[in-house]
Amino acid sequence: MKVGILGSGVVGQTLANGFLKHGYEVMVGTRSPEKLAEWKAKAGKHGRVGSFAETAAFGEVIVLAAKGTAAKETLKLANAKQLNGKVILDATNPIADAPPQNGVLKFFTSLDQSLMEQLQAAFPDARFVKAFSCIGNAFMVNPDFGGIAPTMFICGNDTDAKKEAGKILAQFGFEVEDMGGAEAARAIESLAILWCIPGLLRNEWSHAFKLLKA
Ligand SMILES: NC(=O)c1ccc[n+]([C@@H]2O[C@H](COP(=O)([O-])OP(=O)(O)OC[C@H]3O[C@@H](n4cnc5c(N)ncnc54)[C@H](OP(=O)(O)O)[C@@H]3O)[C@@H](O)[C@H]2O)c1
Repeated sequence: MKVGILGSGVVGQTLANGFLKHGYEVMVGTRSPEKLAEWKAKAGKHGRVGSFAETAAFGEVIVLAAKGTAAKETLKLANAKQLNGKVILDATNPIADAPPQNGVLKFFTSLDQSLMEQLQAAFPDARFVKAFSCIGNAFMVNPDFGGIAPTMFICGNDTDAKKEAGKILAQFGFEVEDMGGAEAARAIESLAILWCIPGLLRNEWSHAFKLLKA
């Protein structure tokens, strides 16, 4: 399967490497392809670099790994028509430009409307699934927590899209918990604030969430 990754930062590159490891064809999208020359050289023949539009056209599944404040712009550059009907694994978080307060990140969204809801409304024919947003990039691909699979919370309005996302996340070593429709992204995106607090306060970044059930 072909995966188009919209975003060339550490998340885009980490997930691109993860998809390559699992046998997918990958294209990473960016406005500046030259900055991915090193990644491309290491990725081999199954890893490509393109514009956001080329990447959206290439991917049968799309990963959105853009800066939160630029997520909508990235999707516009990708061209809505090329996203229609496709599953978009949305790893973004709506982190504001203002600095964190005592280790607590500031968001530009509210608890009544998440970034993913905004994106789903702006691109109604794409099938967004929140995924990979509440864990650090170092633990996004088959993380080792002593044999315990961390939980990946997902949500989205399309049941089949979530099934497809669930298969990918299982390959990447996660136990998947479906939290419901796009509104649940209000809670899932907020988990990134919680995840970052130990890091921002004490430089502790090596953890993941696990949902325990009695
Ligand atoms: N870092 C983590 O461990 C982590 C964990 C979970 C979730 N996330 C979320 O994942 C997303 C990606 O994070 P990141 O740390 O990899 O990188 P990032 O610096 O947040 O985002 C980099 C990407 O955003 C694009 N971008 C920035 N400004 C843009 C603009 N004005 N118009 C179009 N595109 C623009 C860049 O495009 P170019 O390629 O053209 O420069 C690049 O591809 C973020 O939303 C972040 O909150 C991060």
